[in-house]
Amino acid sequence: MKRLFISGTDTGVGKTLVSALLCKSLLEDGHKVAYYKPVQTGSEEVDGELISIDTEFVKSICSENLRIIPSLMFKLPASPHLAAECESQVIDIEQILQTAKAVEDVDYLVIEGAGGLAVPITHDCDMAQLCARLEAELVVVARPNLGTLNHTFLTIDYAEKHSLTPLIVISGASTEPDIIERDNIKMISQKSGDRLIACVPQVEALDTEDFSGVSVPQVKFDL
Ligand SMILES: Nc1ncnc2c1ncn2[C@@H]1O[C@H](COP(=O)(O)OP(=O)(O)OP(=O)(O)O)[C@@H](O)[C@H]1O
Ligand SMILES: [Mg+2]
Repeated sequence: MKRLFISGTDTGVGKTLVSALLCKSLLEDGHKVAYYKPVQTGSEEVDGELISIDTEFVKSICSENLRIIPSLMFKLPASPHLAAECESQVIDIEQILQTAKAVEDVDYLVIEGAGGLAVPITHDCDMAQLCARLEAELVVVARPNLGTLNHTFLTIDYAEKHSLTPLIVISGASTEPDIIERDNIKMISQKSGDRLIACVPQVEALDTEDFSGVSVPQVKFDL
């Protein structure tokens, strides 16, 4: 089984969209796939139960064959360490590792982080460390527009500091990219050692909190 850890250069860059499209593509290729969001912050209460918005979005895009691994959920939309602290809890990294490693009988486990790679889950463990401990392949989602080179290069360097060599996905690519976007994609591809595996185009009316009626493109991931 292969574990893929989806992180990003920032919060709100398209990790959930990319996770959903990746799960969908793998399922359509005939693989058995599970999706796991270890920690969902900003969880909403529906009928007295907390729900993971990211998980609901991924489920809505994929066939029912997708297996869902339940998340730890916290209400505050913040870094996991703080969201847990506000509920007088400390996240148990060992429990996350056990949950992920107990997943059997799938070809791919797609794990979505929260925020970017240096975001703390506890005071001793951030997303990069979790990815390394999960022995997962890191996928970094990056924006295509102005400002992305700084965020993406820093993220690649930080990944390498943790002995991780990321694959890259650009999310929100324009159909008619200008000179800046074309150069950004070229520079990111070079910096990553040609490990850019997909460019996800801009999805119309994408709102990951109200995803009814979102139609998503077919994206091929060069894994
Ligand atoms: N390909 C795209 N097309 C259109 N909008 C996009 C695209 N990629 C990212 N976005 C924008 O980014 C927002 C957040 O996307 P998404 O929820 O997938 O990010 P995330 O990285 O998972 O965020 P979080 O850190 O909250 O988990 C979307 O609602 C949309 O505004
Ligand atoms: Mg998300």
